[in-house]
Amino acid sequence: MKTDHFKDKSQSWDMNSKVVQNAKAIADIIITDIPLDKSMSVMDFGAGTGLLSCFVSDNIKSITAVDNSSAMLDKFRQKCDGLECDTQIIESDFSTDSLNMKFDGIISSMTIHHLEDTSALFSKFYDMLDDGGFIAIADLNTEDGSFHSDNTGVFHFGFDREVLRDIATKVGFRDIKFELASSISKPHQEFTVFLMMGQR
Ligand SMILES: C[S@@+](CC[C@H](N)C(=O)[O-])C[C@H]1O[C@@H](n2cnc3c(N)ncnc32)[C@H](O)[C@@H]1O
Repeated sequence: MKTDHFKDKSQSWDMNSKVVQNAKAIADIIITDIPLDKSMSVMDFGAGTGLLSCFVSDNIKSITAVDNSSAMLDKFRQKCDGLECDTQIIESDFSTDSLNMKFDGIISSMTIHHLEDTSALFSKFYDMLDDGGFIAIADLNTEDGSFHSDNTGVFHFGFDREVLRDIATKVGFRDIKFELASSISKPHQEFTVFLMMGQR
């Protein structure tokens, strides 16, 4: 039986103001930098309880929330009726699976460090985008391994931007750029979050 690493965290996820503020800061840059419109179908990869999806939902036609945690997705399901856009929730583990679907864009917040093979993941994203489609992927800048109190299920201690740019370029993405999206303050350290944007 598979382990849901986010089962316990799902209960209080949305009550953590740092987590909410982080998703809002990422969404604000996506809305400012990417010309979203009400015809667009977007996948939120590792959508969790749907924070990022909720913050961009007014600007797009539909969101497809993908996550491998049924507990996190249950929380998202409870919010769907209140969203401005159509929503579809799919439980899927992208370390092994993919979806035979196409999107105008793929957004993601704080998830790609949970997947070991970043290149394989970006290839899946590329295949799931229409020509001209965008990615907007946020995660931690390189950290020392102390961001999570328990590193179970964490395959990357953040990312070096140039390494990530190289992986995305080799997969075929173009016009890749990075923005500093937010800063997460913990008692022992400050951690920064990037938003990488690019186009198929
Ligand atoms: C740190 S949480 C971020 C949730 C949300 N994006 C946010 O910013 O609040 C990471 C999410 O990625 C999901 N996740 C981890 N590994 C995954 C995988 N292999 N396939 C799909 N989702 C995964 C987890 O279940 C979790 O909901």
